[in-house]
Amino acid sequence: MYKIIEKQIFSEVTKLLSVYAPKIAKSCRPGQFVMIRIDEKGERIPLTIADFDPEKGTISLVFQEIGKSTQQLGALEQGEFIKDVAGPLGHPTHIFDSGTVILVGGGVGVAPIYPIAREFKKAGCNVIGIIGARNKELLFWEEKMSAACNSLYITTDDGSYVRKGFVTDVMKELIEEIGKENIALIMAIGPQPMMRACCNLSKGYEIRTLVSLNALMVDGTGMCGCCRVSVGGSTKFVCVDGPEFDGHQVDWLELYRRSTYFCDEEKSAKDIYNSEKGNHACGCGGIQ
Ligand SMILES: Cc1cc2nc3c(=O)[nH]c(=O)nc-3n(C[C@H](O)[C@H](O)[C@H](O)COP(=O)(O)OP(=O)(O)OC[C@H]3O[C@@H](n4cnc5c(N)ncnc54)[C@H](O)[C@@H]3O)c2cc1C
Ligand code: FES
Repeated sequence: MYKIIEKQIFSEVTKLLSVYAPKIAKSCRPGQFVMIRIDEKGERIPLTIADFDPEKGTISLVFQEIGKSTQQLGALEQGEFIKDVAGPLGHPTHIFDSGTVILVGGGVGVAPIYPIAREFKKAGCNVIGIIGARNKELLFWEEKMSAACNSLYITTDDGSYVRKGFVTDVMKELIEEIGKENIALIMAIGPQPMMRACCNLSKGYEIRTLVSLNALMVDGTGMCGCCRVSVGGSTKFVCVDGPEFDGHQVDWLELYRRSTYFCDEEKSAKDIYNSEKGNHACGCGGIQ
């Protein structure tokens, strides 16, 4: 059992849980993730380790409530427990110590990009961060990202905070300004369409671009085959070969198709969970 030490609510749908998991906190590196199971009957879901404190023995998970398991997780409070937290899993990000890196976080992708930014800066790179969200309410960790980057740019789709537009608008301007030959790496983490758009843009400039893929997972150990993706024509498993891959080589269409395989089951699990809780699908909490 893993105790929840702290809970933070960033928005109605975005939450942070800091969990006491000393062995994981001691051994994890930026880019890695854990598989969690909330209770005995729960499914296993992957979540990136967004922050970790080896001294306190805690890891932080930031997640968006989109289905049954993440809603159930978001309902847990400080002092309660998560049944299983397995990890650290996946390969850590390869950190190097010189040159300019552009790190792009979209939506909840700001959480996994943060420890990567911090590590690149600590190693000596010039770290340019770009973070974006649909609106101001969904943005979080601006201060932490500011501290972890040498410069930080912010966009919101609706213009409710800082610059109106997409992260790719800023990315394009920066590439033009800095020059493609002066950018060692671009990393993009966020929703699939955003990562794909970043890759489409950077491909034209031939800048190496890594993405962290959010394939569906079941076991997280390379045995079930659920997280299979095609990268450069080869079959890879996100849980053991990734989660980071060369974004220019990813078969995005296949990834999207596989991500939507279980939509009906996911919807009915969410509906049953909400009806048992007395919640209406509208999110009124059963009040209306
Ligand atoms: C390596 C890895 C790290 C991840 N890190 C984070 C994180 O730090 N924070 C976070 O909020 N989410 C993260 N995800 C996604 C997270 O695992 C899913 O949001 C979660 O499993 C959804 O479970 P659910 O039961 O709430 O929703 P479901 O009912 O299972 O799904 C609801 C909707 O979300 C989509 N979905 C389901 N699983 C995933 C998935 N793995 N990735 C993207 N969309 C999915 C479904 O297609 C469906 O449309 C990560 C995924 C991977 C593979
Ligand atoms: S989740 Fe089963 S092989 Fe990756």
